Amino acid sequence: MKKIILTYEEISKRCKLIGEQLATRYRFNDTPPVFIGVMKGAIPFLTDLVTYVDIPLIIDYIQVGSFNGTESTGTVVLKKDVTQDVRNRDIVIVEDIVDSGISMAFLVDYFQRKYQPKSIVTVALLDKKCNRKVPFELDYAGEEIENVFVMGYGLDYKDLYRNTRYVFVPDEEDIKKCEEISSRY
Ligand code: IMP
Ligand code: MG
Repeated sequence: MKKIILTYEEISKRCKLIGEQLATRYRFNDTPPVFIGVMKGAIPFLTDLVTYVDIPLIIDYIQVGSFNGTESTGTVVLKKDVTQDVRNRDIVIVEDIVDSGISMAFLVDYFQRKYQPKSIVTVALLDKKCNRKVPFELDYAGEEIENVFVMGYGLDYKDLYRNTRYVFVPDEEDIKKCEEISSRY
């Protein structure tokens, strides 16, 4: 590992800060907001975030794909839709990271077209603002980072290393290890 970007303590602080703001935002809602985690990367973040959103809410998931190794391919495909009908609901799209902005821009457009929700709010633990290929601004971001590839706490390389409690910059050894493990199946 080259360096740790966020420890679990730092992640928790960001979850609390954003979670409490979201609780305030929807406190007087008639219908509970729907928090939609973008699989698979956002699962740990969504799980921790909602524990700080102390109001009734619904959790759902959507899955899209665009990444191939350490590079975004630029085209987004929908792999799994939400299970809730989110028409006329307040939705919160939760991502692990926004990089080129292509996935989030796709998701916002997708929800607007298909469901016409009452409102859409976007949240991500990490924001690689400097790497945008399409204009996109998050409503809530945990931490802005430079243009480096990161892993851990949901973020993967070859679907591995999502299960650490911290986010880190991998070194060549980590990447080689993933290559070796994934070559076995
Ligand atoms: P975007 O469409 O380029 O904004 O990329 C968004 C998706 O790419 C995220 O949801 C992640 O799944 C993945 N991604 C972007 N940067 C990284 C990274 O540094 N490590 C692991 N996955 C990443
Ligand atoms: Mg993702």
